[in-house]
Amino acid sequence: MNRYVPLLLARARALLRLPGGPPDQLARSEIRPAARAVLALHEGLVGERNLARPETYRGEHLGAYLLWWWPQSYLKTQAALRLAPLPLPRAPRILDVGAGPAPAALAALDLLGGSAAAFDASSEALAEARALGIAETTTSLPQERFDLSLVANVLSELPAPLDLLRRLSGVVVVIEPALRETGRALLELRDQLLAQGFRALAPCLTQKPCPALASAKDWCTAEVGWTPPRYFQQLAEATGLRADEMLSFAPLVLAKEAPPPEADLWRVVGAPQPEKGKQRLWVCSDLGREPVVLLDKQAALANADFASLRRGDLVRLRGLERRGDGLRVVPGATVERS
Ligand SMILES: C[S@@+](CC[C@H](N)C(=O)[O-])C[C@H]1O[C@@H](n2cnc3c(N)ncnc32)[C@H](O)[C@@H]1O
Repeated sequence: MNRYVPLLLARARALLRLPGGPPDQLARSEIRPAARAVLALHEGLVGERNLARPETYRGEHLGAYLLWWWPQSYLKTQAALRLAPLPLPRAPRILDVGAGPAPAALAALDLLGGSAAAFDASSEALAEARALGIAETTTSLPQERFDLSLVANVLSELPAPLDLLRRLSGVVVVIEPALRETGRALLELRDQLLAQGFRALAPCLTQKPCPALASAKDWCTAEVGWTPPRYFQQLAEATGLRADEMLSFAPLVLAKEAPPPEADLWRVVGAPQPEKGKQRLWVCSDLGREPVVLLDKQAALANADFASLRRGDLVRLRGLERRGDGLRVVPGATVERS
């Protein structure tokens, strides 16, 4: 990601008409106007979401998007692509849908190689995608077959997301904000797509209806760690927006074909919850969504991986016993991060 920083700064400077400065950070005189632009777009993309539409992605808003959202989408896309082994050929053909300035396409190209096309309704956003290295851009959905279709942070801007998703080919990777409404809407779409012949590759290890939808307070997120670049930290300080070391997102990976889930394999779907004398986290598999509990006094080499498990991780759990507070990691059980 860091290699894009000088280019992101250069393009954002042009769009925001900033005076200019070093290649890896904002000059003092640039921080205020850049922060103001990031906050203006942030406010329009949360709450009423009156800026969540293609006309937004031009001029100053687009400059702000490059600075604040672009690096996060890039990181989240690579993390989503790592959630499961994907049935992709060498040098896959990649389509980035609602690409904007194409952080998802570039993230996938950098990870997988191949070639990518970026589709978006905003030609200004596509011009930035080209400036960042995507040669092929289009303002209408291509009809050809792709090996991998990426849909990052787009669904909540569409009137009929299911119609778009149904038309995509290959492995389909969807990323949505880790918010309750967008996260739960994604799980509802998941269930509808599975009913229409798609198979879930990640985060799900089950093809049954999503167990998180049973309770109104649950949804499914993953996270990825990063060290924000210097200019990003400058913006975080100036805006008061958070630049956490962990980026959360709601992922979904689908395909028309998928192998059956491996026995004993679970996905970590809830943040670790330290409690008095024990640790607890939520995991999900074909058997449902369950809490797993490790008593501190039973911490051992065979379950040492438990302590470092994070949302989104895959873990092999063997020999657990069902107790009142969930699946218990008893002596002799093994916890192996996959
Ligand atoms: C929040 S941005 C996401 C950009 C990029 N995928 C990312 O993850 O950072 C949403 C993008 O969806 C595009 N978009 C919204 N509605 C669209 C539509 N009906 N057809 C094509 N693109 C659309 C917007 O122009 C914008 O570039």
